[in-house]
Amino acid sequence: MESVLLVSNGIRCSTLPASYVRPEPERPKLSEVAHFFNAPIVDLGSADLSLMARQISHACHHYGFFQVINHGVAMESMDKMLDVTREFFNLPVEEKMKLYSNDHTKTTRLSTSSNLHKEKIHNWRDYLRLHCHPLDKFVHEWPTNPTSFKEIVSNYSKEVRQLGLRLQEVISQSLGLEKGYINSSLGEAGQHMAINYYPPCPEPELTFGLPAHTDPNTLTILLQDTQVSGLQLLNDGQWLSVKPVPNAFVVNIGDQLQALSNSKYKSTWHRAVVNSERARISIATFLCPSNRAVIKAPAQLIEDQSQPIYRDYTYAEYFDKFWSRNLDQGHCLDLFKNIG
Ligand code: OGA
Ligand code: NI
Repeated sequence: MESVLLVSNGIRCSTLPASYVRPEPERPKLSEVAHFFNAPIVDLGSADLSLMARQISHACHHYGFFQVINHGVAMESMDKMLDVTREFFNLPVEEKMKLYSNDHTKTTRLSTSSNLHKEKIHNWRDYLRLHCHPLDKFVHEWPTNPTSFKEIVSNYSKEVRQLGLRLQEVISQSLGLEKGYINSSLGEAGQHMAINYYPPCPEPELTFGLPAHTDPNTLTILLQDTQVSGLQLLNDGQWLSVKPVPNAFVVNIGDQLQALSNSKYKSTWHRAVVNSERARISIATFLCPSNRAVIKAPAQLIEDQSQPIYRDYTYAEYFDKFWSRNLDQGHCLDLFKNIG
């Protein structure tokens, strides 16, 4: 396989290299995108739990996305996380290349684009992928430069995990299930992070930072650059640009919650576009089921006399299937539908 350079390699080009150029029909058509979509905001500090459940239910059903405020993660941790990411990607390319790998089974790696083994056209993104739980199993693999990286990212991971487990409780309740349902039926949650860096791109109309995809995990908690937008989601056939809200996280339903909820909640197509002016950072925390967890909808969410939309499967099986395909090849969950 050809080796693909990091896009954060410090070289500014004036035209987009051919291997990043999408054919005309696949381009982002930025002028057709609705600016700006205010994704529903859920105040996790509210005492009105039934309002919270209704808001979450509405957002997850219609958009598969919402934002949270008063979420318990310290503003300082969020700022530090964004700063240390900027510092990391501004390191000399030789330094970063020490962590470079295209092997998706590696638990710590820096890479570029998305699935270099499968894709034909590359994406204008570099990313550092980390496993974050249990921390003591993985932190020793993490970057030692910047020197503050391990401490900042460990603290952030712990805080975001608490938020994620709490969200899985309120999402359970919003589905009419017991509070602990998701957390206990999916086993000890795995936690990964994609620290995404999208440098300024010479021709943003011709390519993506990340093409349309759904997230293969349970729940994604995204810390977005507060200054630079780029995240878009597909709703009723229309791409909507998610307006960054300072100090909020963007939360989206992954494929596993679509399956567990028997499609009541949507794992929505989303993508990241790039711009020619400013680098954009986003930090995605992915909670996922344990490998052995069996994903199935509970009886309460299945209508009488009908079968669940998806067959039972283990997360390990799903994950293998996901990585054997190209990112924008169609909803991976469709391959797990019950027939008949
Ligand atoms: C992802 C993702 C969106 C963004 O990492 O899965 O969808 O805005 N990121 O970077
Ligand atoms: Ni995503």
